[in-house]
Amino acid sequence: MTTQGLAHDAAHRIQEKAPGTCQIGMVLGSGLGSLADEVQNAVRFAYTDLPGFPVSSVSSHASELIIGTLMGVKVAILAGRAHFYETGDARVMDVPLATLKALGCEEILLTNAAGSLREEIAPGELMLIDDHINWSGRNPLIGVESDDRFVGLTEAYDATIRADLIKAAAIAGIDLKSGVYSWFSGPSFETPAEIRAIRMLGADAVGMSTVPEVIMARWMGLKVGAVSTITNYGAGMSGTELSHDETKEIGPIGAVKLIKIIRAYLDNKAKA
Ligand code: HPA
Repeated sequence: MTTQGLAHDAAHRIQEKAPGTCQIGMVLGSGLGSLADEVQNAVRFAYTDLPGFPVSSVSSHASELIIGTLMGVKVAILAGRAHFYETGDARVMDVPLATLKALGCEEILLTNAAGSLREEIAPGELMLIDDHINWSGRNPLIGVESDDRFVGLTEAYDATIRADLIKAAAIAGIDLKSGVYSWFSGPSFETPAEIRAIRMLGADAVGMSTVPEVIMARWMGLKVGAVSTITNYGAGMSGTELSHDETKEIGPIGAVKLIKIIRAYLDNKAKA
């Protein structure tokens, strides 16, 4: 079945138990699952019960879609994403994203854990993504057989969403820097030479996710906002070896801040 067909079926199953239209979709990265616990009147769906949904093999990821209300806004949250490095399929999140669209979402907020390439953005802090460098060389739209594959990415990260997230951070009293995220495929971390190279090319953070979702979301006509929680400095910047344990340990510190920003963001949306 096609992506659209599977997404249509998944949305139908979801709306049988959780009727109504969703406004905002979210994708939660490593260590950010606690955001899903904030949802009121939550209806939860295991990915295993939704057609075409991948189950992530990453130890810090749940695999659930949660529908409910946050600060008066109807949200659909993907708690857990599958990554390119798990299977080598850059399109692995196509059905979940298309399902958010089928549920009525017009925008999605993506979150991830990332390494910082800038001394002034320390572990535990947040970085609003304002652009990206696709260092993996992979693209989820390879193989799409129509002209809509030529997606413009000049403003991949929606300017209004970015401005609203900056406003929300100010209201929440949380420092939110902005910068360029670079996608490396993973699952191994980068080398110090790779980190030096990508810093010179203009990246501010590095991670193993998000870019394929952004490309697919833009292809589907969804507006995108994205925030990284910084869990470490890039390889070679701190003198310590990197590990997924560190990502899991530090991720929740940024998550607490991100939750405050998202609350303020949604509150402003509900009032608008
Ligand atoms: N590199 C790639 N992915 C990451 C990192 C990193 O340093 N930290 C968290 N995810």
